[in-house]
Amino acid sequence: MELANILAKYSKKEENLIEILLEFQSTINTNFISEEDLVLIANYLNISESKVCSVMSFYTLLSTTPRGKYIVQVCNNVSCHLSDEFNVLKTIETKLGIKVNETTKNKKFTLEFTSCIGCCDEAPAIRIDNEVYTNLTKEKIENIFFELGCE
Ligand code: FES
Repeated sequence: MELANILAKYSKKEENLIEILLEFQSTINTNFISEEDLVLIANYLNISESKVCSVMSFYTLLSTTPRGKYIVQVCNNVSCHLSDEFNVLKTIETKLGIKVNETTKNKKFTLEFTSCIGCCDEAPAIRIDNEVYTNLTKEKIENIFFELGCE
């Protein structure tokens, strides 16, 4: 969906900023919001570009640089670290053949860290786009990526 169509769904209130950013970014194959679009959003809401930039940098779901189709976020907070018996990050890095903050050559997966995703009692946890996966095991990770088309 074009940005103009998305903006038309929202009133010109700053409180709509995050929803607009998330909805628009989800329509972009490369999962990011360009500088140009960021300016258009700021103008629409009549807020400064720096305000939009600060929101973009605060929320790990949002990005100003191109990423893969799926954003794989590994929680790196304490509970997940303590519950991580087999090294979730290393397992995923090996599976995808990339390191944190890299994107696979086929542009399908980007790997990132995230802060706590609110599932500490079911750690270790990861988030892929809006889906959270908990109580991870090597087998569970294998199945998750198989379902997403990664052999
Ligand atoms: S510490 Fe990982 S979900 Fe809370």
